[in-house]
Amino acid sequence: MLNGKIALVTGAGRGIGREIALELAKNGAFVIVNYNGSREHAEEVVKTITENGGEAVPFQCNVADFSETSAMIQEVIQKYGHLDILVNNAGITKDNLIMKMSEEEFDRVLETNLKGTFNTIRHASRQMVKQKSGKMINIASVSGVLGNAGQANYAASKAGVIGLTKTMARELAARGINVNAVAPGFINTEMTQVLSDAVKEQAVSQIPFRRFGEAKEVAKVVSFLASDAASYITGQVICVDGGMAM
Ligand code: NAI
Repeated sequence: MLNGKIALVTGAGRGIGREIALELAKNGAFVIVNYNGSREHAEEVVKTITENGGEAVPFQCNVADFSETSAMIQEVIQKYGHLDILVNNAGITKDNLIMKMSEEEFDRVLETNLKGTFNTIRHASRQMVKQKSGKMINIASVSGVLGNAGQANYAASKAGVIGLTKTMARELAARGINVNAVAPGFINTEMTQVLSDAVKEQAVSQIPFRRFGEAKEVAKVVSFLASDAASYITGQVICVDGGMAM
């Protein structure tokens, strides 16, 4: 399904990004497993992919940094000749109530989640326009759709990602590029492991399926959007959230 495609997945060393990398590779893509801090994690993902007959390489880059991101995309294009799939998955949380939220908490989350997504799109779009093809998938969140108390920074960043997605979809459609967002609800990863039992119970009570989702359930949707099966879909926000945001 994705044979011959070059895919870059940001923040792919663990969690949802890891599953996206595995799923894209399983479907035939060559995957660049981006990571920032932990090379070990990225190497484990690459090893798992290659053991299963797929192809992948680790690539260190802080997506919040405009020039580092530019260098990463340039190197990918130089080495592999094209870039077909860009998945903006890297993200962080720094939750706090607005009256306690520091400027640093706000800035850090915006820099990674929103500016990081802008950075890769900014640099990858030129190549995809040249190719007259490409799929961009941005990982947003139901927090960006519904808002979420204690997450002013995070919800604003993810709502920003949704605005960016729709705008990119409009700018790039004429060039044969699909740009969509996937908005997960509560997914079992290290990001949600830190939540208290009380918060988890409260969250589950708001989910029609009455359970957290699995990273694989997000990865399947991303893989579909990355494929030609989704050729007529652009500018959409697909919620993978057990029915939370409807
Ligand atoms: P995670 O914390 O397990 O993984 C995030 C990954 O991003 C980590 O590998 C981290 O090292 C990487 N990363 C962080 N900053 C980076 C940077 N500057 N440059 C490169 N990589 C960086 O989180 P999880 O749960 O896998 O989340 C993945 C995405 O899904 C994030 O964008 C998150 O906001 C989003 N999401 C997660 C939900 C959940 O319930 N787990 C719900 C909704 C959205």
